Amino acid sequence: MLLNMVASIDGAAAVEGLSAGLSGAADKAMFAALRTQADVILVGAGTANAELYGRARRSGTRIAVVSGSLSVDPELPLFVAGAEDATAPLPLIVTTGSADASSAARFEGRAELLRAGDGVVDLRAALAELGARGARVVLCEGGPTLNAGLLACDLVDEINLTHAPLAISAVAPRIADGLTTGAAESTPRAFALTQIVTHEGVLFVRWLRARD
Ligand SMILES: NC(=O)c1ccc[n+]([C@@H]2O[C@H](COP(=O)([O-])OP(=O)(O)OC[C@H]3O[C@@H](n4cnc5c(N)ncnc54)[C@H](OP(=O)(O)O)[C@@H]3O)[C@@H](O)[C@H]2O)c1
Repeated sequence: MLLNMVASIDGAAAVEGLSAGLSGAADKAMFAALRTQADVILVGAGTANAELYGRARRSGTRIAVVSGSLSVDPELPLFVAGAEDATAPLPLIVTTGSADASSAARFEGRAELLRAGDGVVDLRAALAELGARGARVVLCEGGPTLNAGLLACDLVDEINLTHAPLAISAVAPRIADGLTTGAAESTPRAFALTQIVTHEGVLFVRWLRARD
C-alpha cells in the first residue's frame, strides 16, 4: 500500500484544517501521477469531508472512505454521481459490523459498504478484502488518523512525501497522528530512502518500508 502526503518544513500536514495551503502545482502533479497507479484510493472520513472528495478521474479507480461511525457526508460530490458516473462502480465506505443501520441507510444507492471489524475498522481485514476483490495497488491519501492506524498495523509499503517550502508554526497534525482506538500499539517502522526529486523549490521523497 502506498501513502501520499504533503507536509510543511516544520511537519504540519494541514493549514487551518486543509491541505490546500501546503499544496502547489508540483505537488498536484505528483498527486495526479500517483493516482494513475491506483486501483483503489483509500481516504479517511475526516479528509473526505474536509477536502470535499469527488470521484477519481480515471475510470477503474475506486475511492474507498474509511469511516467507522459513518461520519462521512453522504452529500459529498463523491456520492452524488453525475450522468458520466452512472455506469461506474459506486464508491466504497469501509466501516464496521456495528455501524448504525440508519446512518448506513443514508448511503443507499450512493456507496457500497464494506464491513471489517467491530467498533473500529480492522484495517488489515479491510485491505485483505480489497485485495481479494482485485485491488493490486491501494493508494492512501490520508489523513493523519488513518495513516497512523495503517502504520501501526504495518500496512504501509511506500511513503511518498512532498515537503512544501513553508514553515507553519501553528498547531497542526503531523502526517501520521492520533491512533484510532483499537489500533495496534504504535511501533516505530523503518523505511529506506529510495528517491529524492526536487522541482520548483519543492522536495519529493519516496521511502520504501524496510522489513527484515
Ligand atoms: N497534508 C496532506 O497531504 C493531507 C492529506 C489528507 C488530509 N489532510 C488533512 O488532515 C485533516 C484530517 O485529518 P484526520 O486525521 O481527521 O482525518 P482522516 O484520517 O482522514 O479521518 C479520520 C476519520 O477516519 C475514520 N477512521 C480512520 N481510521 C479508522 C479506523 N481504523 N476505524 C474506524 N474509522 C477510522 C474515522 O471516521 P469516523 O469518525 O466516521 O469513524 C476518523 O474519525 C484535514 O485537515 C485534511 O486537510 C492532509
